[in-house]
Amino acid sequence: MDDLRDKYIGLIAGAGDEATLEELRVQAVGKKGEISLKMRELGKMTPEERQVAGPALNALKDEINSALSAKKAALEDAALDERLRGEWLDVTLPGRTGRHGSIHPISQVTEEVTAIFADMGFSVAEGPQIDSDWYNFDALNIPGHHPARAEMDTFYMHRAEGDNRPPHVLRTHTSPVQIRSMEKHGAPIRIIAPGRVYRADYDQTHTPMFHQVEGLAIDTDISMANLKWVLEEFVKAYFEVDDVELRFRASHFPFTEPSAEVDIRCSWEGGTLKVGEGDDWLEILGSGMVHPKVLQNAGVDPEIYQGFAFGVGIDRIAMLKYGIPDLRAFFDSDLRWLRHYGFSALDVPTLHGGLST
Ligand code: PHE
Repeated sequence: MDDLRDKYIGLIAGAGDEATLEELRVQAVGKKGEISLKMRELGKMTPEERQVAGPALNALKDEINSALSAKKAALEDAALDERLRGEWLDVTLPGRTGRHGSIHPISQVTEEVTAIFADMGFSVAEGPQIDSDWYNFDALNIPGHHPARAEMDTFYMHRAEGDNRPPHVLRTHTSPVQIRSMEKHGAPIRIIAPGRVYRADYDQTHTPMFHQVEGLAIDTDISMANLKWVLEEFVKAYFEVDDVELRFRASHFPFTEPSAEVDIRCSWEGGTLKVGEGDDWLEILGSGMVHPKVLQNAGVDPEIYQGFAFGVGIDRIAMLKYGIPDLRAFFDSDLRWLRHYGFSALDVPTLHGGLST
């Protein structure tokens, strides 16, 4: 038994890794290990012999087991020390100067738009990006069979088989925030709602995720003339010019009546985009007088209240103002692009301090 002890205590002490240690454990105290075999021999002994050998073997087994776990812990500690020597980080190092993050043009433009409309008395509202088809469609007077549902290339959320709850969608526009805001605050109301929207579309001026800002003004004496004035003031303030040429085009949206789309004169000559010149028009927003059914669906009495709504493409007006020709680059996270088109975090857009300077 002394020989066995010396042999295994020695081998355990010399083991260099956990695999060797495991082999030794099997060899010594495993089911068919040397000590287990010795224990089986106890049966052949006389009771007197057994009284001595039994406890001694058990003690030896315990001793070897504790030697094994002590060595295992020591090997783990050594491995951790080794890692700590290799993987370290000096958290007291100074920051790298000359490298700043920048504000993405979408954030910049959202701030600019918010500042302009805040000045006209609009507050900021929000809604979820995943919404029910009631808020995204039905409440906005777009029934199930309406072609606008197909036209919008809607992303539907997956439902498990047998789950018959009504579908949810990635909102295709910010218009559902009209409904949510009127439900919550009633009328009169004056809000804008900037945020992300989603449609399955991809080319130079379309990405599957893009940004809109919704506008809504409801009161007892609002007309199309107010809509026109607000949009013209907005466009002039946004482009920081006294005159911009706009085209109000008669259009159709299920949630407004009458409806108008607004285009802005621009040129793409030489691949650069310029506002206010050229023979091209870029559509930047949809608008109109809120449909009585929409007011009704949101719990506002159309006999008393009326008003206008609009939805502006934030990415579109960012491209126009800052001469960015391809919308897809907005979302590539290319650092060179971000350094070129990004804005300083310290220049907060305000009307009095200048929107973009
Ligand atoms: N929701 C419309 C769109 O995404 C824009 C719009 C908003 C039109 C409000 C009229 C009124 O195209």
